[in-house]
Amino acid sequence: PVRISIKDFATELSVPSTEIIKKLMKRGTIATINQEIDYALAAELAEEYDIIVEPEEEKDVMEEVFGEVIDDEKDLEKRPPVVVVMGHVDHGKTSLLDAIRSTHVTSGEAGGITQHIGASSISLNGEKITFLDTPGHEAFTAMRMRGAQVTDIAILVVAADDGVMPQTIEAINHARAANVQIIVAMNKIDKPGANPDRVKQELSDQGLLVEDWGGDVICVPVSALKHQGIDNLLEMVLLVAEMGDLKANPRRKARGTIIEAQLDKGRGPVATVLVQSGTLQIGDPIVAGAAYGRVRAMVDSKGKSVKKAGPSMPVEILGLSEVPIGGDMFYVANSDKQARQVAERIKAQGRVQMIGQTPNKVSLDDLFTQ
Ligand code: GTP
Ligand code: MG
Repeated sequence: PVRISIKDFATELSVPSTEIIKKLMKRGTIATINQEIDYALAAELAEEYDIIVEPEEEKDVMEEVFGEVIDDEKDLEKRPPVVVVMGHVDHGKTSLLDAIRSTHVTSGEAGGITQHIGASSISLNGEKITFLDTPGHEAFTAMRMRGAQVTDIAILVVAADDGVMPQTIEAINHARAANVQIIVAMNKIDKPGANPDRVKQELSDQGLLVEDWGGDVICVPVSALKHQGIDNLLEMVLLVAEMGDLKANPRRKARGTIIEAQLDKGRGPVATVLVQSGTLQIGDPIVAGAAYGRVRAMVDSKGKSVKKAGPSMPVEILGLSEVPIGGDMFYVANSDKQARQVAERIKAQGRVQMIGQTPNKVSLDDLFTQ
């Protein structure tokens, strides 16, 4: 810890607390044994005992409090696959999702460019699939990485007329780093300039050998615009998901990842979260980094109010004290108090770290001696 109570500090040094209190008194500080001293002071005092104090690696507070998910095999149930759609800018990721969902998100985007991660859930013959749309623009590397990290399958969209481009390669690398299976959607096959063989060659240059070339990478030709090949693609997604035997325990306190969050003028902090384990319910006390609160309302990807969200479900939640950071985990706490305490600890950590990072101020003396 960055701070330690005098009592704990004395125990660490194997000296009576009163001795430490006396030393502090000599320095003009009156302290009680439960009071905390900071690292710098602890290091100074310890030196008098010929002991060198080193700051402990900062532990992940949330991991420490909430621990790992350990479930009994019998509690696990099938969960929907989480599928991230990645690829170079303008290769048709959002159009493909529009075709899958029969929506028209693309047409509403500023300049036709996706600038956030969109989460949605669809139902296909009774099977659910959760999709995350990611931006292809080179500026949004972090979002692509975040998208890949929470998913089971990556659909790599490659425009058949444009081929493998820089962010296609970046997406391949994110998927690989996150150990996520890639399915290639060769899009825009309706275009006169489409050249599937060239794309397959470029993919193989990146180590992705498609099935009809003797490899094991599934590649589905599609046209998002003409709604061609979509069913085929979804069938492949469900097939790969089936092989992955994806499971989670819906009957435990929920935890998951903040996909993205922003401050809404009317509604306050709004976060899109992906539940990864357990079931999130209205009224649950939650904490996500320095943000905490009670889930006041939940909205699914179709804009419908819901009371609970199980594993692999993306929902928008209201009720947090501040805007959480995308990519952070969220946890349902045992009580409002626990949620607040964890958030406060994280906040305090953040402050200490920030102070540590500010460069030392230059004093007048420094300037004159130069
Ligand atoms: P970013 O999110 O900005 O990376 O782009 P994106 O990959 O989501 O691409 P988007 O879906 O916005 O599509 C880009 C352009 O390609 C749009 O003008 C689409 O109409 C067009 N487009 C997408 N799919 C197809 C397709 O299958 N055929 C043709 N001809 N055009 C397509
Ligand atoms: Mg898009």
